[in-house]
Amino acid sequence: MTRNSIALIGFMATGKTSVGRGLAFHFGEAHKFCEMDDLIVEKAGKSIPEIFKEDGEIRFRELEMAVCKEISKLDKVIVSCGGGVVLNKLNIDYLKQNCLIVLLEASAGEIYKRAMKDGPETRPVIDKADPKAEIEKVLTFRKPFYEAAAELTIDTTGKMIEDIVHEIIDILDKRK
Ligand code: S3P
Repeated sequence: MTRNSIALIGFMATGKTSVGRGLAFHFGEAHKFCEMDDLIVEKAGKSIPEIFKEDGEIRFRELEMAVCKEISKLDKVIVSCGGGVVLNKLNIDYLKQNCLIVLLEASAGEIYKRAMKDGPETRPVIDKADPKAEIEKVLTFRKPFYEAAAELTIDTTGKMIEDIVHEIIDILDKRK
C-alpha cells in the first residue's frame, strides 16, 4: 500500500495542530485532519490531565498506542500526534504503515513561551515546579527518539505557520 497520510510529530507546542490544519486545508476534501489527543480523550471519556491524574501515565500511553493502531488503518489523514508518541517504537511502526512522519522542531525557549500561553496545567508532562527546566530536560531526553522516527524534519523556530505549511508542501512536491 502506498502511504497517503502525514503524521506530525514533535515536542508539545511546536505547532503540530496548526500546521496539520493548514496541510489538511491545502489538500482540501481529500484529507481529513485529526488530533491524536482528541481521539484518546474520546476513548477515555475524560481529559488528558484527568487520565494522567486518575489512571496514570502508563494508562495514557496504552490509549495512545491503541489510537496509533487505529490511525494506521485510516486513509488520507493528517494527524497531529501527542509529543510523547515517539517513546514507543510500536507507535511509530503503526503510523509508518500509512503515514509519512514529519518532525516539527523548535528551541526549548520558544516551546516554553508557547506552552505558557496555554498554561502548564493543560500538559501534565511539564506541569511541574519549574516547567522551563522540565521542558529542557524532557526535550533533551526525547531528541534521539524524535530524530529516529522522523522522515522529514522542519525547524519551526521563528517561522509563521503558513510558511511552515508551504515549506512542507514544497518538499513533498519535489519528492514526487
Ligand atoms: C504529551 C504531549 C501532549 C499529550 C500528553 C502527553 C507528551 O500532546 O499527548 O499531555 O508526552 O509530550 P501535545 O504534544 O499535543 O501537547
